[in-house]
Amino acid sequence: MSTDAVGRAYPRLEGREKVTGTARYAVEYPVDGVTYGWAVPAAVVRGRITRVDVAPALALPGVLAVLHHGNSPRLAPGPEPELWLLQEPAVHYRGQFIAVVVATSLEAAREGARLVRIDYDAGPHSTVLTADHPGLYRPDQVNPNYATDTAEGDFDAGYAAAPVRLDATYRTPAYHNNPMEPHATTAQWQDGRLLVHDSSQGAVPVQAALAELFELPRESVRVITQHVGGGFGSKGNPKATVVLAALAARQVDRPVRLALTRQQVFGPVGYRTPTIQRVRLAADADGRLTAICHDSITQTSTIREFAEQVAVYTRSMYAAPHRCTTHRLARLDVPTPFWMRAPGECPGAYALESAMDELASAVGIDPVELRIRNDPAVDPELGQPFTSRNLVACLREGARRFGWADRDPTPRARSDGRWLIGTGVAGASYPARARASAAAATARPDGGFLVRIDATDIGTGARTALWQVAADALGVPPERVEIQIGDSDLPPAGVAGGSMGTSSWSWAVIRACEALRERLRETPAGVPVDGEVTAEVNTADEVREQSALPRYAYGAHFAEVRVDADTGEVRVNRLLGVFAAGRVVNPTTARSQFIGGMTMGLSMALHEEGVLDERYGDWVNHDLATYHITGCADVERIEAHWIDEQDGELNPAGVKGIGEIGIVGTAAAIANAVHHATGVRIRDLPIRLDKLIGLSPLA
Ligand code: MOS
Repeated sequence: MSTDAVGRAYPRLEGREKVTGTARYAVEYPVDGVTYGWAVPAAVVRGRITRVDVAPALALPGVLAVLHHGNSPRLAPGPEPELWLLQEPAVHYRGQFIAVVVATSLEAAREGARLVRIDYDAGPHSTVLTADHPGLYRPDQVNPNYATDTAEGDFDAGYAAAPVRLDATYRTPAYHNNPMEPHATTAQWQDGRLLVHDSSQGAVPVQAALAELFELPRESVRVITQHVGGGFGSKGNPKATVVLAALAARQVDRPVRLALTRQQVFGPVGYRTPTIQRVRLAADADGRLTAICHDSITQTSTIREFAEQVAVYTRSMYAAPHRCTTHRLARLDVPTPFWMRAPGECPGAYALESAMDELASAVGIDPVELRIRNDPAVDPELGQPFTSRNLVACLREGARRFGWADRDPTPRARSDGRWLIGTGVAGASYPARARASAAAATARPDGGFLVRIDATDIGTGARTALWQVAADALGVPPERVEIQIGDSDLPPAGVAGGSMGTSSWSWAVIRACEALRERLRETPAGVPVDGEVTAEVNTADEVREQSALPRYAYGAHFAEVRVDADTGEVRVNRLLGVFAAGRVVNPTTARSQFIGGMTMGLSMALHEEGVLDERYGDWVNHDLATYHITGCADVERIEAHWIDEQDGELNPAGVKGIGEIGIVGTAAAIANAVHHATGVRIRDLPIRLDKLIGLSPLA
């Protein structure tokens, strides 16, 4: 028997719990005797703590303890220096958590944190990235493990010989992840075991880090991530909250809840690095690229190296015989940048897809046609065929749906009253990877099934997708299947990140269900007679043996904008994306992922900008009043479509991952549309009205 749950638009399994408020998040579980932690940020950029006066805080009724480097429980030095918290007096950046106040009420903890007196010995600092920063260096590799630089052919010769050349530098500012649920943990010690409810994209790395830091066997640490209110990468590895809560709970010998404030989410949990990107393109008179070079400059902290893979996008996107990509990094006195939706591809595509638009104008070729003309038959660096590559199909389908064919390429040719109207296009790609996972499937005597996997649903609909996949793999209606995720007591699986959740987890779920069906063949009617039957699998060997062929999801973005010729105000009338991302498990949740990514890309194009003040070495706009994020009213019409794509080289479910592809290319499509509307090319995001205000009024 086979069913067809995959491909159907089921609502989220936990939707009712979420909208009625009964779904529990990390600091919402009822816990007897719970206390509250409040993190204290460093008030200097670089230096040492010379004195901590805890007396005024401890004098406050309800305050139980003030933990700092002088009195905190000791941690074993781990591989992750950012988690070695409250162990030493050094301050590496403003906002680093250097103390925690624990109290019987949230209010007392907060007031206690205000009363802690800390003296510092502060030194000079450097916090602003520049293209000629003296600290620039070449990292050994870039995130997660790409080569730092690549070169094929002879870029300089190829560039010099070409009749058409473009040399442009693009800049993107720092961006801050702002999941609705902040980073938050409830930590409880019970008989030497540690239980944490943590807001994380994956329990396994949290469990591993806590075991190492507190010198416990892994089985003594349990991490529960039942419901998580977003992450976008910022919860992709263990963060300060979980360590601080565990330290505090050990110190006061009571359960501790610790959640970051919104302002603290702009602090030590990671942000997208600012980028400075030089793109050079050379082409023949027909727009065929002959040389491509993408040089990226980004920042990291003094604590830990994070090198965003900004130029990696350019390595496989368009064909050209002469190519190079480079990454340089400056180590600054700032919090460590980290993952934010499509790290690398997102800012990289803004630069390359803007440059392609500039080239299209320079050679007088339609920007859709220019991309089609330069679509490579094989990976331009590796020389290998793609498992499937449907960028051209996305561009054609998008152009048809958007109504691109009649476009007059002349900038500033269309207007509606004061509004200048323009349209733009951009390509997009994101790797389609998978990692090893375990899963277990159980048959119950009553004909029901239980599927267990330590996957994490950070709001994407992963729980529902896996339930659908399991039903089809078991060959039963989904109503007979129960799915359990979000608990380190379940078979271990990787984090919800890198658009690898569904590909990795469904792989293990399908194999576990297949193994169970095999075992049930021996039982009458395929139902266990006495007790349950369970099959547990791990896909490590199978994943390792997968072919090394390049595999990517693709997309094409189309945008229509209007720009007020007097004020420079930019509004996005329409966003339309077409994606090729393998099989779509659930159209409802898939659409949400695509348009969520596109909305975040719109936010990047027009609104978001982390502004750092070198005098104080800190973000100036660290709240949602001053750090602008696109709201519903900014998105007038947004559509996501996908093409039917069958790719047998990927994984048993045939999926490519959809969490990140939606943001890649969106900002470039909007920037290109703004250029078409106005004739003004903005090469540093966001596209604010003050950058456009010099527009002459309409004639
Ligand atoms: Mo996503 S930035 O891979 O969590």
